[in-house]
Amino acid sequence: MAQPDKKLFSEYEKLKDEINYHNRLYYVLDRPEISDAEYDILFDRLLEIEKKHPDLVTPDSPSQRVGTEPSKKFEPVRRRVPMLSLQKVTTAEEFAEFDRRVREGLEKTENIEYVTEPKLDGLAVELVYENGWFTLGSTRGDGVTGENITLNLKTIKNIPLKLSDKTARTYPLLEVRGEVIMRKSAFEKLNRKLTENGTAPLANPRNGAAGSLRQLDPKITAARPLLFYAYGVSDTTLPGLGRQSDTFVFLEKEGFLINEHIKTITGLNKVEKEFQRLTELRPELDYEIDGMVVKVNDFAAQDLLGQISRAPRWAVAWKFKAELAESVIQTVEFSVGRTGVITPIAKLKPTRVSGVTVSNASLHNEDELNRLEIHLGDTVIIRRAGDVIPEVVEVKTDKRPEGSRKVKYPAKCPSCGEAIVRLEGEAAHRCLNPACPAQVEGRLIHFASKGGFDIEGLGDKLARQLIREKLVAEPADLFYLTKEQLLPLDLMAEKKAQNIIDAIDRSRRTSLPRILNALGIIGVGETAAQLLAEQFGSFEKFRRADLETLENIPGIGRVIAKNIIDFLAGEGNRRMIEKMKAGGVQFPDYTSSKTSGKLSGKIFVITGTLSQPRNYYKNLIEENGGKVTGSVSGSTDYLLCGTDPGSKLAKAKKLEVAVIDEDQFRKML
Ligand code: IVH
Repeated sequence: MAQPDKKLFSEYEKLKDEINYHNRLYYVLDRPEISDAEYDILFDRLLEIEKKHPDLVTPDSPSQRVGTEPSKKFEPVRRRVPMLSLQKVTTAEEFAEFDRRVREGLEKTENIEYVTEPKLDGLAVELVYENGWFTLGSTRGDGVTGENITLNLKTIKNIPLKLSDKTARTYPLLEVRGEVIMRKSAFEKLNRKLTENGTAPLANPRNGAAGSLRQLDPKITAARPLLFYAYGVSDTTLPGLGRQSDTFVFLEKEGFLINEHIKTITGLNKVEKEFQRLTELRPELDYEIDGMVVKVNDFAAQDLLGQISRAPRWAVAWKFKAELAESVIQTVEFSVGRTGVITPIAKLKPTRVSGVTVSNASLHNEDELNRLEIHLGDTVIIRRAGDVIPEVVEVKTDKRPEGSRKVKYPAKCPSCGEAIVRLEGEAAHRCLNPACPAQVEGRLIHFASKGGFDIEGLGDKLARQLIREKLVAEPADLFYLTKEQLLPLDLMAEKKAQNIIDAIDRSRRTSLPRILNALGIIGVGETAAQLLAEQFGSFEKFRRADLETLENIPGIGRVIAKNIIDFLAGEGNRRMIEKMKAGGVQFPDYTSSKTSGKLSGKIFVITGTLSQPRNYYKNLIEENGGKVTGSVSGSTDYLLCGTDPGSKLAKAKKLEVAVIDEDQFRKML
């Protein structure tokens, strides 16, 4: 290796500073001073020197952002200070209530000084700086444990790789937190490129950011236009940083990008006005926001207020109301569910609502279809609230195209062509033909779903293929599938086929409530299945149940009891149960955990967003003898509370029900 001379060394150092300076102008301040071509010349020279003298390369060199070797998977990172989540409010009244609690907690009557920030809709991350060097970056994960995505974060050009010497000395350990986002414009450009390349486009900028950051190959991340906005530090006791507003000044000085719409304001009314302002500003911003975060500015006050469960008492997310948008109905499709219910679905001109492109909306049932008097080509107002299926709220009859046809509910099943009936007391029409292909498919998907046999890898697509290729005619046939039968299917590789066979095999040993749910008896979902398992204790006893016993089980009732009796009497169903048994499915008794488990007799309610799906916790609770119900009442023992809890938390507090978070729950086991 050639010895670098002094001159070269100083050229190299200067180059690094120069490129970092231009990176900051370009990515953080958005006002470049040189052209892209001039920038490339500097960068190429840097690479040239580094190639000749690899020993010179320092971790803060701009070349280190390009992305190195792909990782197999991300390592877990346990962080020192958990990343909290935020309580949520949606109205001025609720915010006033938050403000009242803050003043009460601080024993203050005067107005509180708050910092208001746009709630960025991206991915939360933490960056650890040791002695000024960026050494570790992680996703939020469950707050305590995240994933190590350091290499990917290094490719984001506006993340400083090294902080000033002074900062390195003052804060030898500094954990900076913030949000990684993709600008709307960059997202659209990227999507155009992906589409041209024949790759599936990304759903929205948030998914774009999250998906890009979780690439195992940092080179892919490097090619994605991501930005990091810093919004805080983990430690509120750092010398010189006594307020949230000080933190922003400090972070900005260190080269971090700080959002331009952050304000320090005093009192309730100003906060409300700021929320109005952001609501109006939202469509103009080149990044997605889903609300406003309000934090008590003073760190000492924050510490005094503390936290409940996983959310601080000193901050709140004031979320925007569900967004409305205008779209056009292109057609209406009638989809047939597993129980034969026929639901009208409006196919819309793809329209963006609250950051996602919507092209379907549910019209619910015949009554709703008639109430709206939908005509093809109608202009409609659609609404999307969070992750729920969008719906049509209004028809703009004045914009109806001339001579357009009114959409009529079908007289025959759109899947099998049999006559359909509207059962007494129901708003839905059903197809009563059990062999209807759409129903067979729906039953199969339900059977394999999370609350049923939980067969990983068996989703809508595979279910459809299995039926189309006549490999499966009813769910029990799954237990006779072989890998050789799967291999010829579309997009099926050796490994995938094996995984599916393995998943089916694992599912042979499941629990009684899951079996009862999977059978797909109308009205018997997870809750009823649980009740039945508790009542009868074994499948054999359930099978011999009579109408009277069934309808006297609290929570079952006459209609479901009758459905169960009809189901068990059905010749085809009996045969299917035998086929399941012969195929190796075990029908275990339900007694084991109920009286002996650690949570025996305890009643839980689950609310908010947790790090695992709710079913995960439900299973754990039930396996340990506890029970999960849907609403908080006097008999509830624990509220397992995640982030953004709704009214259940308030109710639990009122009834003095113990509120626990995921950690506390795990400790109970
Ligand atoms: S502060 C206790 N500030 O919102 C403080 N969070 O529920 C918690 N988020 O996924 C975080 N913009 O990534 C804070 N300006 C902002 C934010 C923000 C977006 C996200 C955050 C997390 C969620 C918190």
